[in-house]
Amino acid sequence: MTRPAGDVLLEVTDLKVHFPIKRGIVIDRTVGHVFAVDGVDLAIRRGETYGLVGESGCGKSTLGRAILRLNEPTDGQVVFDGTDVAALKGEELRKARRRMQMIFQDPLSSLDPRQSVESILLEGMRAHGLDKDKEATQQRLRQLLSAVGLPETALRKYPHEFSGGQRQRIGIARALAVEPDLIVADEPVSALDVSVQAQVVNLLEDLQDQLGLTYLVIAHDLAVVRHISDRIGVMYLGALVEETDADSLYREPLHPYTRALLSAIPVPDPQVEDTREQILLAGDLPSPANPPSGCRFHTRCPWRQASLCDTERPQLREIGGGHRVACHYAEDIRDGRIQPHEVEPELIELTGALNPDLGPPDVGTSAEIL
Ligand SMILES: Nc1ncnc2c1ncn2[C@@H]1O[C@H](COP(=O)(O)OP(=O)(O)OP(=O)(O)O)[C@@H](O)[C@H]1O
Ligand code: SF4
Ligand SMILES: [Mg+2]
Repeated sequence: MTRPAGDVLLEVTDLKVHFPIKRGIVIDRTVGHVFAVDGVDLAIRRGETYGLVGESGCGKSTLGRAILRLNEPTDGQVVFDGTDVAALKGEELRKARRRMQMIFQDPLSSLDPRQSVESILLEGMRAHGLDKDKEATQQRLRQLLSAVGLPETALRKYPHEFSGGQRQRIGIARALAVEPDLIVADEPVSALDVSVQAQVVNLLEDLQDQLGLTYLVIAHDLAVVRHISDRIGVMYLGALVEETDADSLYREPLHPYTRALLSAIPVPDPQVEDTREQILLAGDLPSPANPPSGCRFHTRCPWRQASLCDTERPQLREIGGGHRVACHYAEDIRDGRIQPHEVEPELIELTGALNPDLGPPDVGTSAEIL
């Protein structure tokens, strides 16, 4: 579907979310920061599906949560339908939140086990004053269930009485109950059986067509977002490294990290599978509390060059046809002027205080652990 390029629903500019790492028994001292999201620019058009992929810990969920103000941004702007969400407070923030909903990875832990499906669906409607007329509310509940393919009898049941796929349908109905414009779906199918994943993906696509929804779909791997996304953004250590439409990304990935991610997806044709080039990345994902200098990917990049790579952070820049890449050498890689080479994994030193793996995600309690 082609849409006017200017019809942007969500615009994120230089967004940063830095979590303080605290230490101390009596007095909390901030001894460093986890740079979970560190300068993200992206725009999502109305009615579009934007897929966000990257390794575990690269900041995808934090970015999604910061867009909804579930994580407080440290810096930057989130403009939703012309309004800067970061500047909203109280009632205005609540109203904006109705228009942006989230679907979570684990449908069981995201649904209160003590609440019936009816009460789960009503909760959001009540909070936003959408349940005034009793008859209309009952009709709305029936509509919601039918939209996600569940029988009316589901209303009186509890989350544990459903399968994983059905629970995710309840999670989707809960998001739809408040009539949102944008849905941030954080790994919506990764906790489900493969056989059920396609059904839930198809449901999301059907609902988008019927209701004109805009999606930000977060996933670990490129295979999941490939079919559902209009455009895809690839994230590495808190920032986007590449962004383009889904077809171009698969046809001509330009960032070395995207190339490595794509080369890890098996090809069904055994002949192609045997001969295709696989790029194995050296070393682990560096800590977001102590990111490498210059290009954050330089410690693992097979195309790394002697100049610029470890000293200057590349900007995400357009190199034609809406394809954006954060690599100093994107054109040289594309045109084959530089070739990949072996990379010696660099040892990344983690001091106890700066190792986020030693601390819990909850900032408030990290002092008890460290
Ligand atoms: N509340 C928090 N306090 C401190 N650090 C946090 C907090 N939430 C996330 N982090 C850290 O920020 C980094 C990014 O986490 P995030 O959950 O956004 O990654 P992700 O890309 O969604 O990973 P996954 O694919 O595993 O879900 C990680 O290092 C994580 O430990
Ligand atoms: S800037 Fe250098 S290290 Fe970074 S991706 Fe490009 S070639 Fe690799
Ligand atoms: Mg996540």
